[in-house]
Amino acid sequence: MKKFKLSLLVVSLMFGTQTIAYEKGDWVVRAGLTSVVPDESSSNILLGGQDLGVGLTVDNNTQLGINLAYFLTDKINVELLAATPFTHDVNFSVTDPLGTGNQLGEVTQLPPSLLVNYYFLGADSPVQPYVGIGLNYTLFFDDSFTDANKAAGLNDLSLDNSFGVSAQLGFDVPINDKWHINGSVRWIDIDTEASFNLNGTSGRVADIEIDPFVYSILIGYTF
Ligand code: NI
Repeated sequence: MKKFKLSLLVVSLMFGTQTIAYEKGDWVVRAGLTSVVPDESSSNILLGGQDLGVGLTVDNNTQLGINLAYFLTDKINVELLAATPFTHDVNFSVTDPLGTGNQLGEVTQLPPSLLVNYYFLGADSPVQPYVGIGLNYTLFFDDSFTDANKAAGLNDLSLDNSFGVSAQLGFDVPINDKWHINGSVRWIDIDTEASFNLNGTSGRVADIEIDPFVYSILIGYTF
């Protein structure tokens, strides 16, 4: 199915016969692949106030991305972005600092976002590019250490939820009157703080900037 639609996309790109334009009152629903690629930096792990000289890194993850948009005018829509939960490996910034491996644990997050998008072409076109800006709320849950770190006495990992801005660039390429292919690159400001416990001593990482780029390839339907 995906191959079929991709070949339709190639045909429409080659011939440019299919055009698309939105109208006030249109709804668009999209689903496909969304990748969260952190551009992270973190402060060092503090244990009982002592700086361990080690920070954290966060790996990429890809999930089912879903979004729903409503056109307030012919050129402006409001879009809610959702996805199945992203689970990221969290690693130490240096090799095996505690003798428990390179991975500290993993975190799962949901980053729902509400954006306002501006379609600057407006009129019928074989491609409809847009820019958007809005707000993101990221919920962290199921934060856990690896078994080796648990065995070393680490527990109670918890990350604060994050509230921040999000911006994106995207485009729609029509397959026919109803269906289109959508691509977007989004940036989200996601900042958090982690706390944990090591054999009764409390630890924290005060500043974790995840700030991911989020890439989506979706199939959309207008109704
Ligand atoms: Ni940030």
